[in-house]
Amino acid sequence: MTQVLDRWPELLKRSGLSHSDRGRLLANLARLMEGFTVEKSQRLRGYLGHPEMLEGYLWWYLPLNLLKLSGLLPGLPGPIPAQITDYGCGPWTLPLAAWLLYPDWRRAPLGWTLVEPQAAALRAGRKIFEVIAAADPHTEWKFTQIPERLGTAIRRKADLVVSSHALNEWSESEEAVARFLLRDAQPQARILVVEPGTRLAVRRLVQLRAHLIASEAWPLAPCPHSGNCPAPGRTSSDRFCHFPAPADLPAWMRDLARELGTEKQSNTLSYLYVQRGLPRPHPPSLARIISGEIPLNDGVGCYLCSREGLLVGGAGQAAWGDLVVYRKDQKVDPKTHCPRVTIHPR
Ligand SMILES: C[S@@+](CC[C@H](N)C(=O)[O-])C[C@H]1O[C@@H](n2cnc3c(N)ncnc32)[C@H](O)[C@@H]1O
Repeated sequence: MTQVLDRWPELLKRSGLSHSDRGRLLANLARLMEGFTVEKSQRLRGYLGHPEMLEGYLWWYLPLNLLKLSGLLPGLPGPIPAQITDYGCGPWTLPLAAWLLYPDWRRAPLGWTLVEPQAAALRAGRKIFEVIAAADPHTEWKFTQIPERLGTAIRRKADLVVSSHALNEWSESEEAVARFLLRDAQPQARILVVEPGTRLAVRRLVQLRAHLIASEAWPLAPCPHSGNCPAPGRTSSDRFCHFPAPADLPAWMRDLARELGTEKQSNTLSYLYVQRGLPRPHPPSLARIISGEIPLNDGVGCYLCSREGLLVGGAGQAAWGDLVVYRKDQKVDPKTHCPRVTIHPR
C-alpha cells in the first residue's frame, strides 16, 4: 500500500486521469473539501460526475480512504469471500484497497458488483485498478458495474456486502438502508460499512446497527456485544465510537495539505461489521478500547465499550481500538461515573 500511495500522482497520470495544473487542482480540491464540510443538502449534487470534482477526489479522498482502510481491513475476521457487492463504490476504492491489502484474495475467483450512480467515477476506478493490478496478471476478479443507487436489484447474491464513506450521502432511512443491504445478501453474509469518524456519521451508523441487529445480523466488530451502543454520540456530551486511522500521509499529500492549509485535520473512521445467519453470540468479558488517553483524578485512563456499557480502565496496557479482557474493580470512577476496570491485553 505504502509504495502505491507514494507513487500515486504518477499512477494517476499513467491512467490518463490527471489534467489540471497545480493551481487549478488546488482550487478544485478546496471546493470539494468545502463540499464535504457543509450540510448534505447544500453539496454539489452528483459531485463525482463533474470532471474537476472527480479529479480532486482521485487526488485526495481516494488515496486518503485507501490509507484509512489500510488500518482497518487487515484486522477484520472472515474467510475470502466469493461475491462482493459494494454500494457507492466511487472510483473503486474498496476493490483497490482489497487488492492491495489482501494479496491472498488476488487469485481467488472473486466476483464484484459495483453500484455507483456516477458512471464517470466507475470509469476512473476501472482505469486505476487496471494500472495497479497489472502488477499481478493472475488476478481472477470479475466486475459487474451498475450505474445505479442503493436499492437497485442485484442479480448475484453477495457473501460480503460493503460500503465505504457513502452511507452519509444516502437519503434513505437507516431502516431502509438495512433492508437493502440485507436484501441482496446471502443467508450468512457479512456486511461492512465504513464511515468517517465524526459524531454525525456515528449517529447514523448506530441507527443502522440497531436495524441490522433487529434482523439478526450480529456485530463482529468493533462492538464486542449486541446490546445497546454505549457511545452513540446522540448529544454533544455523549461519546461517539470512532478510531484513529493511519496518519502517515505520503510526502506529496503532506505538501498538498500544507498548500491547502488542512494539515491539522485528523484522520479517523467509524465502522460496523456484522454477520447474519449465525446464532446470537454470547461473548466472554471482552471490551473494545474506544478512546485515546483521558485524564482521570488518579492519572490517565481510557474508555471501553462492553456489554455492560461504557467502562473506564487505566491507560497503557493496550491501544485505542484494541479488543481486551477486563475485570471489574467494584468501584465507579468519580470523574466519568463509569465502572472502573482492570485491563488485560488478549
Ligand atoms: C464519498 S464517496 C465514497 C466513494 C468510495 N466508496 C470511497 O470510499 O472512496 C460517496 C459515493 O456514494 C455515491 N452515492 C451517492 N448517493 C448514492 C446512492 N443513493 N446509492 C449509491 N451510491 C451513492 C456517490 O456518487 C459517491 O461515489
